[in-house]
Amino acid sequence: MGVYETLFKFADATGKYMGDPGTHPWAQGYPLTTQIPGGPELPKSIEFESVDLKYPKATGEPPLLRAIADYYNHFYDAGITTDNVAVFAGGRPAIFATLAFLLDDTTVALEETEYTPYYDVLNVLNRKVHLIRSGEGNRFRPKAADYDIAPLKDTSRVMLVKSNPCNPTGVAMGGNDLSALIEQFSGENRGALIDEAYEFFCDPEPESALKYIDNIDETNIFVIGAATKGLQVPGMRIGWAIASRDHIEIFRNYSSFGMGGVSRASQIYVSKLLERQRVTQARTAVSTFYTAQRKRYGEGLADLGLELQTGTGGFYHWGKLPQGLTGDEFNERLFAHEAGILPGRLCDMARTDDAKSALAHYARFSFGPLGAESYDDDMRILREALS
Ligand SMILES: Cc1ncc(COP(=O)(O)O)c(C=O)c1O
Repeated sequence: MGVYETLFKFADATGKYMGDPGTHPWAQGYPLTTQIPGGPELPKSIEFESVDLKYPKATGEPPLLRAIADYYNHFYDAGITTDNVAVFAGGRPAIFATLAFLLDDTTVALEETEYTPYYDVLNVLNRKVHLIRSGEGNRFRPKAADYDIAPLKDTSRVMLVKSNPCNPTGVAMGGNDLSALIEQFSGENRGALIDEAYEFFCDPEPESALKYIDNIDETNIFVIGAATKGLQVPGMRIGWAIASRDHIEIFRNYSSFGMGGVSRASQIYVSKLLERQRVTQARTAVSTFYTAQRKRYGEGLADLGLELQTGTGGFYHWGKLPQGLTGDEFNERLFAHEAGILPGRLCDMARTDDAKSALAHYARFSFGPLGAESYDDDMRILREALS
């Protein structure tokens, strides 16, 4: 049940929903939904006509499809057209649809420490899974050779699923390493879902796998993006998949029998956010502001005794708790302050028994929703909970 398990426990203990005024939502993965330093304003209204009240097109309205394709072509020289884009109601529906339509003889490969919902989705879909070592032993940083994976018995292909930057660890793969990974998973009987929810949250600058894909129509690569984090609008529920035309065609059919398209009002709003000048400003501001927050919270958490393993991306800190505490024990102390973290075990893709998870003593601390002014109060609560 992932992060919701923590949210329900929090509500039981405090009588509040994490994120309500006065709470400290360190378990939650949403960004500030207000203007950040140096960033563009968030529009307060949109205009639409009666034609916008009609059903939307199956894989997205043309203005948003164009805005998304232009975005990747401008910043990453992606060489894609609107036929390579499908719009969904957020990043997770795009991930779910991609994994739902895999052929049965596919091995899904993913790192042991990954984004909580992958665990549930792969279980529900009953996928055959190969886990790539990512734990304390390799500091949550798999080596290139770890991605060299043979199909499991009774399967003949391999599909990598990877969040990059990784949620929860913040470890980001870029440059030559990312280029090599894309090449490796572009070959025959290989594919990859690269989940770039945190694309903007990279130090020194945003990066996408699309920079390294020469012709996406010749691959089984799916790049998943969303307006949720970088564009700061989780409530708009807009995400997208970039893939070969043939794969997008499957999503078109899926949309017509299983989704009915995505809210036109949300699509109009997000098209505005992707205007060239605005999105250029947003990329720089998000990367700069959150890099500073990562550094600041990193120093504070390390001073309190957490052994951090955080990478250079995302808006989480990832580390081992002091005093032999488990994530759940730490949360019991934090709930008294109307605060809570995400227990590490929920990011453990290898777990069979929650109590025995190798990540039981780890925690994911989110600084995504925190304004610069909340730091001192946050540190005070953490200090009290650890004293
Ligand atoms: C790694 C990762 N992928 C995708 C998403 C997509 O989120 P949404 O479905 O809210 O757009 C998130 C949000 O938490 C995430 O952390």
